[in-house]
Amino acid sequence: MPGAVCIDRHPGRYVGVADRMEVAMGKALDRVRILDFTHVQSGPTCTQLLAWLGADVIKVERPGVGDATRKQLVDVPGADSLYFTMLNHNKRSIEINTKHETGKEVLERLIRACDVMVENFAPGALDRMGFGWERIQQINPRMILASVKGFGPGPYEDCKVYENVAQCTGGAASTTGFLDGPPMVTGAQIGDSGTGLHLALGIVSALFQREKTGRGQKVLAAMQDGVLNLCRVKLRDQQRLECGPLKEYSQFGQGIPFGEATPRAGNDSGGGQPGWILKCKGWESDPDAYVYFITQAAAWGRICDLIGEPGWKDDPEYATPAARLDKIPQVFDRIEQWTRTRTKFEVMDACNPLDIPCGPILSMKELSEEPSLRETGTIVEVDHPERGPYLTVGCPIKLSDSEAEVVRSPLLGEHTAEVLGEVLGYSGAEFDRVVASGAVGNVTAVAAE
Ligand code: COA
Repeated sequence: MPGAVCIDRHPGRYVGVADRMEVAMGKALDRVRILDFTHVQSGPTCTQLLAWLGADVIKVERPGVGDATRKQLVDVPGADSLYFTMLNHNKRSIEINTKHETGKEVLERLIRACDVMVENFAPGALDRMGFGWERIQQINPRMILASVKGFGPGPYEDCKVYENVAQCTGGAASTTGFLDGPPMVTGAQIGDSGTGLHLALGIVSALFQREKTGRGQKVLAAMQDGVLNLCRVKLRDQQRLECGPLKEYSQFGQGIPFGEATPRAGNDSGGGQPGWILKCKGWESDPDAYVYFITQAAAWGRICDLIGEPGWKDDPEYATPAARLDKIPQVFDRIEQWTRTRTKFEVMDACNPLDIPCGPILSMKELSEEPSLRETGTIVEVDHPERGPYLTVGCPIKLSDSEAEVVRSPLLGEHTAEVLGEVLGYSGAEFDRVVASGAVGNVTAVAAE
């Protein structure tokens, strides 16, 4: 199998039954080799996850240019941007001009040597390059070709798509924001990173299926589909709307009639337990002095005692979730009178022992300084030769037998010579021919550094 070739970065793997203990100490995706033909955010998110899980990810980049994000939103002049570094950890970089004859030859060898090819080019780009699905299958029938596209087959399949376009076309924007305001996009990159996550699951599943069939297959994650999947509770509500008003939406309590489509719900909870964002002490000057507070039915009595409304426990107007449905805004107004007298952390401290679900609104500054996230490796400090130390988000999935250490992103073409030699078997005059062709960047300069 192509991916079975042992590489130096993972020595001593899968040598035999006697070595099972050693194997158990490796990584979940050891022996899986990925041809990473991705750029910007959606595809790189996917391949970075696979790299953290142990795959050998070889990022193919255009000579002298690389992934466009290397030079976007630059903060340190001359250095790769955080946009790039934070999405491309644990990968190797090889420069190949895949439109050059020799570049095509190198890419072909890479396709033979890899298990999975991941790409998120504009629709048709791979075909134009001469590497459509049929060609890839001819080269390596076990290859899994995984793609992110903006849309699945249909009227928009040829469109280029970025994050917020996907949020808008996947149902997130129409259901986000306040009722009296315009549609709104969210800060969470559900279009790009969310689709990358979906794609990663598809790839791992295809690898698993290949164990049984011996065949590769195509994996497609369309951004519209991914966003819609993450918005499925809103499609739930669309259908519930046909049976009457959505009583858990605060607009019901405010007496505002519902229209034909799932409305924007402000900060209403998406589930059956009403919730809202409430002001805390300091909100006048601190934009993040808020807490999300959920009036979980099971905790209702304790909430009433905590906020100084013990009478609500037996009052038929407030005692049951059904009775409270048309008073959700009033209930939260009253709870907010209490939260405004405390900081968001004091609210947490008071609620947690009483099993009242709530959460402080944490800023990026607070998250980046949170010691517990540093301890679990969720926030990691990484050193980089061009830019020095920076913070990043480590692997958010923790496997007890496959620890994910974070390795800095590669410089452009940093591993071109290494991959040409070790992975693709180029040596001597053949190696020199490929380098001299100009199809793989300035290999001598890279090797000399
Ligand atoms: N050597 C030679 N050519 C290369 C190359 C390499 N190593 N890598 C890329 N190219 C070429 C491609 O073949 C393509 O050429 P073509 O237009 O002649 O076919 C060209 O570079 C540009 O690729 P494209 O994907 O069109 O880039 P773009 O910057 O114009 O568009 C996106 C960017 C993200 C809008 C587009 O790629 C896209 O819609 N992708 C799918 C959806 C997606 O992932 N969006 C989210 C991004 S976070």
